[in-house]
Amino acid sequence: MESPILVTGGTGTLGRRVVTRLRDAGCDVRVLSRRSHQDAEHVEYMSGDLLADDGIDAAVEGAGVIVHCAGSNKGDDEATRNLVRAASRAGSPHLVYISVVGADRIPLVSGIDRAMFGYFGFKLAAERIVQGSGLPWTTLRATQFHDLVLLVAKQMAKLPVIPVPSGIRFQPVETDEVAARLVELALATPAGLVPDIAGPRIYSTSELLRSYLRAVGRHRPMVPMRLPGRAARAVRDGANLAPDRAVGKRTWEDFLSERVSAGP
Ligand SMILES: NC(=O)c1ccc[n+]([C@@H]2O[C@H](COP(=O)([O-])OP(=O)(O)OC[C@H]3O[C@@H](n4cnc5c(N)ncnc54)[C@H](OP(=O)(O)O)[C@@H]3O)[C@@H](O)[C@H]2O)c1
Repeated sequence: MESPILVTGGTGTLGRRVVTRLRDAGCDVRVLSRRSHQDAEHVEYMSGDLLADDGIDAAVEGAGVIVHCAGSNKGDDEATRNLVRAASRAGSPHLVYISVVGADRIPLVSGIDRAMFGYFGFKLAAERIVQGSGLPWTTLRATQFHDLVLLVAKQMAKLPVIPVPSGIRFQPVETDEVAARLVELALATPAGLVPDIAGPRIYSTSELLRSYLRAVGRHRPMVPMRLPGRAARAVRDGANLAPDRAVGKRTWEDFLSERVSAGP
């Protein structure tokens, strides 16, 4: 019997698509989650918490590959350290990590930088833990997922006036295309840091918000807001973009028209 593939964060936006694709490829999948779930065919759920360092040993036991999709705004370094420790105790699984474009290009030198862009620092620290783990590894950096952009647009649209960070652009990518690439990497030999995956087009923040508002049939005034600090400057200079890696196929417009409608 083939060893199972562990997917941390296999209940999340990205991870659940990775789980589906691995299962469809004929793999036995194990999912680590902080909550309990009903097992499904070829998918076993195990309870554990990467930050609390709880339940990880049982989850990694016997896994030949670990696709590490668990994450949040902060603490990805600590969670990854705990995962790597348990994985190394269990053997030598191939560790596949999802990071973010710009992790290595956004300077975090002040409290303001860390307050607004600290996420990128946690991702870089986690990347380094994966790289120095002694395990065979592969890391893929992606730009922001369509689902995340939609979530943020929905939240912003609740405000009577929307503050728009000026000069900041995004290159959103289809989550399922990132999942497909991660599965491809998980089923291949360890490859280290692989070329980024980014969406087909770059948009200003106001373009993204306007297209969302148009799709839901709402109007909101927008006010430009200049974000202070070196991290924001790096992002204005495009540190979060990968124009040379615009390999994503599905556009934001296609995603939006399928997911959002203006209603009757
Ligand atoms: N969203 C983006 O635009 C984007 C872009 C580039 C890279 N990424 C990276 O892609 C990964 C997945 O992002 P996503 O948007 O799919 O995230 P998500 O929807 O918020 O899902 C997060 C997942 O992490 C799990 N998780 C969180 N804290 C955990 C903990 N302490 N212990 C165990 N599991 C924990 C959650 O599982 P339970 O709640 O079931 O425990 C959930 O399955 C993250 O590493 C993120 O940094 C995201």
